[in-house]
Amino acid sequence: DGEAFVNSLLGKMTLEEKIGQMSQVALNTKLDTPADEMARKGQVGSFLFLTDAAEINRLQHVAVDQSRLHIPLLFGFDVIHGFRTIYPVPLAMAASWDPAVAERAQSMAAKEASATGVQWTFAPMVDIARDPRWGRIMEGAGEDPFLGSRMAEAQVRGFQGDSLGAQDHILACVKHFAGYGAASGGRDYEESNISDEQLWNVYFPPFEAAIHAGAGSLMSAYMDLNGVPATGNRYLLHDVLRDDWKFQGMVVSDWESVMNLTTHGFSRDAGDAAARAVNAGVDMEMTSHTFRDGLPAALHQGLVTQATLDAAVRQILLTKYRMGLFRNPYVDVSKTASQMVTPEQREAARQAATRAAVLLRNEGNLLPLSKQYKSIALIGSLADSKADIMGSWSLAGHPSDSVTVLEGLKKRFSPGTQVEYTKGVEIEREQTSIFDEQFSSPKPTLKTDAERDAEFHHAIDLVRQSDVAVLVLGELQSMSGERASRSSLDLPGKQEELLEAAVATGKPIVLVLLNARPLDITWASQHVAAILEAWYPGTEGGDAIADLLSGDANPGGKLPVAWPRSVGQIPINYARNLTQIPNDPDTRYWDGSSAPLYPFGYGLSYSSFSMTNLHLASNSVHAGSKLEVSVDLQNTSSRDGDEVVQLYTHQRAGSASRPVRELKGFRRVTLKAGEKRTVTLALDTHDLGFWSPQTHHLSMEPGAFDLWVGHDSSASDHASFTLLP
Ligand code: IFM
Repeated sequence: DGEAFVNSLLGKMTLEEKIGQMSQVALNTKLDTPADEMARKGQVGSFLFLTDAAEINRLQHVAVDQSRLHIPLLFGFDVIHGFRTIYPVPLAMAASWDPAVAERAQSMAAKEASATGVQWTFAPMVDIARDPRWGRIMEGAGEDPFLGSRMAEAQVRGFQGDSLGAQDHILACVKHFAGYGAASGGRDYEESNISDEQLWNVYFPPFEAAIHAGAGSLMSAYMDLNGVPATGNRYLLHDVLRDDWKFQGMVVSDWESVMNLTTHGFSRDAGDAAARAVNAGVDMEMTSHTFRDGLPAALHQGLVTQATLDAAVRQILLTKYRMGLFRNPYVDVSKTASQMVTPEQREAARQAATRAAVLLRNEGNLLPLSKQYKSIALIGSLADSKADIMGSWSLAGHPSDSVTVLEGLKKRFSPGTQVEYTKGVEIEREQTSIFDEQFSSPKPTLKTDAERDAEFHHAIDLVRQSDVAVLVLGELQSMSGERASRSSLDLPGKQEELLEAAVATGKPIVLVLLNARPLDITWASQHVAAILEAWYPGTEGGDAIADLLSGDANPGGKLPVAWPRSVGQIPINYARNLTQIPNDPDTRYWDGSSAPLYPFGYGLSYSSFSMTNLHLASNSVHAGSKLEVSVDLQNTSSRDGDEVVQLYTHQRAGSASRPVRELKGFRRVTLKAGEKRTVTLALDTHDLGFWSPQTHHLSMEPGAFDLWVGHDSSASDHASFTLLP
């Protein structure tokens, strides 16, 4: 009945009202018409960036009570990894290798957002990213389409619940379709050149997974893909999305990306840009007003038909209908405040942060910190930053809610162990970030060289005087995210020098990283006893890190992206095709190793695990069925802990060459000290299918496969099987 309702409404709409529905207006930009007037005249379908519940209700009343057709507005906001309570950044959630972590985090985020009146998030971002220079690698699940797909569907379930309009949930928007993560040189917004084979086998799968999980909306990407801007790309937005995947939801452009079709040098003018975006499959334009300015003339000139335009409006109205907005578009303002940063939210955020952490090194079992240590030197400006610990895209988060590493460690270790803190060095980003104004990251006060030297030496003195030192290093939150790409992966500023000086004291050193991309820690990987990748862990980050350092929690996360030794190795993703001299792939450079510093899927634990008895239920399987693969996993230590059983396959021959190995199954398992358990993974043969550049379609090709199960992508327990027709 939604269709009948929407069709009847559509029949009553003027062209201006239709274009209004297709327009999204950002309330953090300068408006040429006041928001109330737009709502009253039906000139807007959605507002972006409003987080005040009373104001949301007020504007909604204007639209519903005072506009001619009483069509409710849709309020959107970037709820990327939490709303007011901030969860670990998405790359960190992926590092948990636990889709339940991502689902719960996004469901909790939806609860806070919907209690504020936000109905629509622009997440999950499911762009595969294999270049850590790209700042937005922090927003996705890393390099792998299989892990990325599991995280994509989990996040959609978390945001939306069982159906559109479910209470305490919000509409998800899978983005950025498609190929944004392959920006040339890792430079944000740069063109992407991706072969069809890579598009179908690497970049598309997480989108398809999110759509099959029911994502109600999708965002087109900003950039040019293979010569056609994604926002004007009918192949992407129509042929793949609607025809192949049967997507039933609404498509929104990215910020000004319709207007930029002209700036790109693709469209002649606003009319041409608007027509090409709508004809490609964009239903709603974000921020720019190319539809408003260009669609009437485009319609008149026959560049776009009334039917195509109506189809876009119908999609938007249907989405609003399915979300229940025509029945109740308001938020209960009396309940908003009590839903924010509740103990339940904090507990979920802390658990997510502990599960996301990856232990990269732990020589001599320095971690967890022994109770023998009576004094800890805590060093690094990030250890005392309430804003940075949240990470980028935490726009509704309040830094004052955050628990810093300093606070977390003091709470946990004092008074038995003394925690003394000093910054050592400041980190600065020279160029301002687009979020600087919205994000209250305090700017470091400029210091003289002498003051900086004194601070540096004070830190090293403190290390000398303490039993153990914890250095919290990494990047400011503004150093990753949108418009935060880098040409180097060094620890910014003088952090590396500080680390080297701390190690030179001979004291045991723990390096805790706060960041959201692989950084060049090659020196540290050889000289620093313990390295914990904590990512940007969110509001409860400080407590979670204290849990991990003290041993109350045991790290079990794994890298969702291979970690290069240097920027020159990029891309270094594990799933690559073997070519000439295949038996010696690790000597592709003469001036250094061509193996990553840490492989994809890598991560240690305070426990140790063995995997034995790899067993396949059969040595052949029919296409369309599942093959049970089991392994005996044992916790061989005296500490409870988690291990992720990872399954990789390789097709030996086919119509096209296949990657050396590809992740096709995983499970994170908690085992008590000494416990042994048989872990069974069901390998779905559909996941063995691939798009072949020879046949130009996706299929499962029968043939011989290798299979490995182990702790990371270098797993060595091997078996083989045959895929039968
Ligand atoms: O959702 C974002 C997108 O990822 C980048 N451009 C702006 C949008 C809305 O904030």
